[in-house]
Amino acid sequence: MSEKITAAITAVGGFVPEYRLTNAALVKMVDTNDEWIRTRTGIEERRILTGQGVGTSDLVVPCVQNLLEKRGIGAEEIDCLIVGTVTPDMFFPSTANLACHKLGAKNAWGFDLAAACSGFLYALTTGATLIESGRYKKVVVVGADKMSSIVDYSDRATCIIFGDGAGAVLLEPDTGGYGVLDSILRSDGAGCQHLHMKAGGSLKPPSIETVTNKEHYIYQEGQAVFKYAVKGMADVSYELMQRNGLTADDVAWLVPHQANKRIIDATAERMGLSRDKVMLNIQRYGNTTAGTIPLCLWDWQENLKKGDNLVLSAFGGGFTWGATLLKWAY
Ligand code: UT7
Repeated sequence: MSEKITAAITAVGGFVPEYRLTNAALVKMVDTNDEWIRTRTGIEERRILTGQGVGTSDLVVPCVQNLLEKRGIGAEEIDCLIVGTVTPDMFFPSTANLACHKLGAKNAWGFDLAAACSGFLYALTTGATLIESGRYKKVVVVGADKMSSIVDYSDRATCIIFGDGAGAVLLEPDTGGYGVLDSILRSDGAGCQHLHMKAGGSLKPPSIETVTNKEHYIYQEGQAVFKYAVKGMADVSYELMQRNGLTADDVAWLVPHQANKRIIDATAERMGLSRDKVMLNIQRYGNTTAGTIPLCLWDWQENLKKGDNLVLSAFGGGFTWGATLLKWAY
């Protein structure tokens, strides 16, 4: 009988740009204040990729280089690169395609996957499936977004939330029961009305009118999204624990999407987890969309122990949401 192959995470990489957009700086741009931002979201500053001629692939490349260095392998060893993003460099070619070229990943194929804030979870499950099939040995899964490229910096309801950043994991086959063990992924296109970008796609191609009307920015009905996010993220995380027979004591870490500290607190509470088991870096990076979860793993990697059970959980535009159970492999 052949052994079951699971996809183990064998290295984590991350990259955030240097420029810090602080709450104090935002106060000078829109009618807001530090206290409102901190208490409503938990955010203190975000990183922004500045300069002309740079896109999401410029977050992906240093992030993957960091990952490869940690694992001590070259780019030519990558079999496949999946980039979860809703801010690709271009509609086509894909950001993964451009990043492979810049990295020198000559033997890799790759593609972008759009699931907004759940992009990393969707990409992780997809990448894990490639490993589990036995056909691929090294799959890199990235979550990366240059949110500053679609944020309206005159809209106080959205500009305080988002930042730029990228995180990545390397998946390799394991037969010891480590890695991605289970995932529950959901989507509901009815949520589109509450969170979307109005123009630029085939439904409403770019025109002078769409630019004038600011339709190439994030449109979000914050309160409605908040309501669905709290329920969606908490329910799916709890369901994942139930179906794997896990109690709060069995879970070492919750790795939540960093959209709003209040959503994270509600999810942890539903799972019965104490605050010290919850990864939280929203105060430093804001919401980097597909980047948040791998950036948490990047920040906390020194604290993780072999055999730790991690629950990764996200909710975002689409709506898309889900939770993934991981057993840490090193
Ligand atoms: O990651 C993808 C999924 N997205 C999310 O999960 C985001 C979910 N939503 C949220 O996190 C929250 O809804 C926000 C942080 C976006 C907004 O917080 P809220 O507590 O829902 O605020 P609100 O929209 O209900 O606004 C409350 C008040 C309003 O004023 P009035 O009408 O009560 O006078 C807003 O105009 O706060 C006002 N407001 C602000 N005040 C100061 C909105 N934005 C700001 C601001 N500074 N930046």
